[in-house]
Amino acid sequence: MCGIVGYIGQREAEPILVEGLRRLEYRGYDSAGIATLTGPHLHLRKRAGRIADLAKFLGEKPAPGCHGISHTRWATHGPASDRNAHPHLSSDGSIAVVHNGVIENYSALKRQLQSEGITFHSDTDTEVIAHLIEQHYQGDLVDAVRIVLKLLKGTYGIAVVSTQHPDLLVGARLGSPLVVGIGAEENFLASDPSALIGQTQKVVYLQDGQMCILRPEAWHILDANHARIDATIHNIDWDPGESDKGDFEHHMLKEIYEQPEALENAMRGRLSDEDASAHFGGLNLDARQLRRAERFIFTACGTSYHAALVGEYLFEEFARIPVEVEYASELRYRNPPMERNTIVLAITQSGETADTLAALRESKRKGHRTLALCNVVGSTIAREADGGVYLHAGPEIGVASTKAFTNQVAVLTMLALYMGRMRNLSSLQGSRMIKEIRALPEILRRTLQCHDQVKEIAQKYHHVSNMLYLGRQYLFPAALEGALKLKEISYIHAEGYPAAEMKHGPIALVDENTPSVFLIPSGGVADKVMSNLEEIKARGGPVIAIAPEGDDELASHLLSRADDVVFVPQVPDYLQPMVAVVPLQLLAYQIALLRGCDVDKPRNLAKSVTVE
Ligand code: AGP
Repeated sequence: MCGIVGYIGQREAEPILVEGLRRLEYRGYDSAGIATLTGPHLHLRKRAGRIADLAKFLGEKPAPGCHGISHTRWATHGPASDRNAHPHLSSDGSIAVVHNGVIENYSALKRQLQSEGITFHSDTDTEVIAHLIEQHYQGDLVDAVRIVLKLLKGTYGIAVVSTQHPDLLVGARLGSPLVVGIGAEENFLASDPSALIGQTQKVVYLQDGQMCILRPEAWHILDANHARIDATIHNIDWDPGESDKGDFEHHMLKEIYEQPEALENAMRGRLSDEDASAHFGGLNLDARQLRRAERFIFTACGTSYHAALVGEYLFEEFARIPVEVEYASELRYRNPPMERNTIVLAITQSGETADTLAALRESKRKGHRTLALCNVVGSTIAREADGGVYLHAGPEIGVASTKAFTNQVAVLTMLALYMGRMRNLSSLQGSRMIKEIRALPEILRRTLQCHDQVKEIAQKYHHVSNMLYLGRQYLFPAALEGALKLKEISYIHAEGYPAAEMKHGPIALVDENTPSVFLIPSGGVADKVMSNLEEIKARGGPVIAIAPEGDDELASHLLSRADDVVFVPQVPDYLQPMVAVVPLQLLAYQIALLRGCDVDKPRNLAKSVTVE
């Protein structure tokens, strides 16, 4: 979603700001802008569209100076246009502001300002901030910002510069992440540390209610009471190459192929043969506290929600603990009765999703223990949860989540093992699970070999308008995930359903132009799913089956009934979602390519959704 980069130092700001924005490009945006200062002169450049459009404009009309702010906007108030792009200026043009988040009381503030004769030049909520700062400015920019923040309701991460203060960059945060990057005689500000790759490794995460004051040679943080605080400096250990596409055409494809290695990283040091169990460093709950847990609530959005659904099956089967899975956007406003010993587990790749963060905070407020499964180290949710587990999937840049999903499911599987071993799993069962889990990276390497066959299937179906994804039990969430992948990057309408539920309504959609992707389990309910498949065939619907190899009878039946069959390695039921999702990711990718879609930056989507 929206991105902020700020710089103050000795070097030209423009290339640093534009490069920072490029590193945030994957988050999704529809316009971009930059404001720099040379003494009392402010240079504003804004463009709807891609950062490349802004860079072209800057080529014609550079923004000079060693001090500036920049922004990528994901439209909320008003369409994507040059005038709505950030930065926004005060009436006298002296103050420039960029903002992430949503100012909920902006219309009242705007009406008030308009009644006082202020003219607005955009439809955004952000512009009120610039006018208010000008109104409250009496020679001290930091003070003016502080006063204005008290008038705002909603969420913000902001960066402010003023022509009256050529050596000052001010930032503030409430509900929208902001990080200070510390350099030698230069300092940075960004909404995400990844914007600072290659500039500095030293960062300070701002907490809600804090402000930061940056000068070329100094920086400090103020708390909500305007008192200076001793902030902790974190060292970010990043490898710039990790965020590049390498030899792959798209980040998404690279990330699909990184899944075996990402799984190895998620498992490293966490499986113990000695205890036939798993171990996690950061749960901050000892075995006795976990043993007392009577119920879990898993909360998440999008792909992470699908991983949570797999987790529900895992926890109920292995740990025998009741689990409820709630969309974070619903949980935050519901008031479900929650027993005292309920643990709330937030699942999120980015650790910044606004709904998930709000659900976590609401659960904490009610006094529940909160845990988080996060990929982004140091993200807000990772820091605010009482304890948690990192996914160790590495940076996920493609908007469509892939390796984060498999690692979320892998971590949930290991957690289920850990919780199960405290309750009803024997050491023999635990050891067997460890062996099966350890085999996964190699199994995923083999699964990826289906890519060429999936390409051919994509050729057959890339023109369709609707697709169904059907699976049962552990494979039902995988069906939901396959449908989400297809719709978000190829814009084909797709629905995921429990295979047997299809006959209660969605079967009405089936015709020769509506293919159904069937996820066939090994054993268990395989026969039942085969009957569901027959029901689709009887109505003329094309069928693509993803099925386990090694069962000759099933294979010959499928080969005679389905239009296409992708065989994947056979694994126990509970590991099937991680295997079955691979051909589904590849299918969505190949279909999107054939339809000419922008795979890594699909329309209207943002990598992390930091507004409600
Ligand atoms: C997945 O492909 C999506 N782009 C989206 O649904 C995502 O999973 C969701 O927004 C949650 O994000 P998070 O895991 O960072 O919280």
